[in-house]
Amino acid sequence: MRVLTRAAQLGGGGVLVPTMGALHEGHLSLIRLARTAAPGPVVVSVFVNPTQFNERADFERYPRDLDRDVALAGSAGADVIFAPQVDEVYPPGIQVPVPALPNVATRPGLEDAGRPGHFAGVCQVVLRLFDLCQPTHAVFGEKDWQQLQVVRALVAAQARDVTIVPHPIVREPDGLAMSSRNVLLNPEARRTALVLRQALIEAARVETPKAGEAIMRQVLDRPGIEIQYAVIRDAETLETWSPARPGRALVCARVGDVRLLDNHAWPERDPGH
Ligand code: PAF
Repeated sequence: MRVLTRAAQLGGGGVLVPTMGALHEGHLSLIRLARTAAPGPVVVSVFVNPTQFNERADFERYPRDLDRDVALAGSAGADVIFAPQVDEVYPPGIQVPVPALPNVATRPGLEDAGRPGHFAGVCQVVLRLFDLCQPTHAVFGEKDWQQLQVVRALVAAQARDVTIVPHPIVREPDGLAMSSRNVLLNPEARRTALVLRQALIEAARVETPKAGEAIMRQVLDRPGIEIQYAVIRDAETLETWSPARPGRALVCARVGDVRLLDNHAWPERDPGH
């Protein structure tokens, strides 16, 4: 496996797995899927993108360990780690454009409301990584459900010739969605965090979004949790759900001082799986 810092060293083609590093089993599943998704090299980008953080402290404390990431990505079958410095992605003196944001990045009132400017940074860096790496396919995890819908809408709006391949949420044995932020949870917050998944499972059993949202709030209403949103929406637009459309239950909560996300198909007959 090669570790590259300059885009000029990349050959183009293949499957890109964009990450901000701090790889965990969830990322490794994305890399394994990338191996089978299309021919060509599997390129894992590791870049903590400063433009998508709206809190400086969050950017600074984001876990970083490139040597560990290289070893893990290699064990999962990556061919190349692309780990650029900031000036490779955002060259001094060059304005890397922020594209027009799709509605799903600005209207739902979810991550777009909780993290102003976040999707502008995500869209900017994703298109930039596509330009630098020239993949035919790119794999994105479903844990960041709104991000996945934003990227899909962006690629369609920009008529980019990149196939977006989704990967289901990967969970710890006790059900917590895997996230690079989980390492920041203290033991008590780690236990408390399990209620996010529990709220989604309870909501999946009820018939209306209103009842589902009420149940999620009930389940999440406990010490140590600050609910940011707990909603049921149209799975693609993330606006109001209407019958006959696929729905998605989405939660975001601060557990201790760590902001966690999770989501689940809604409604679903057998929501525990
Ligand atoms: O999901 C992430 O890790 C990031 O938002 C991404 C897609 C790598 C862009 O920086």
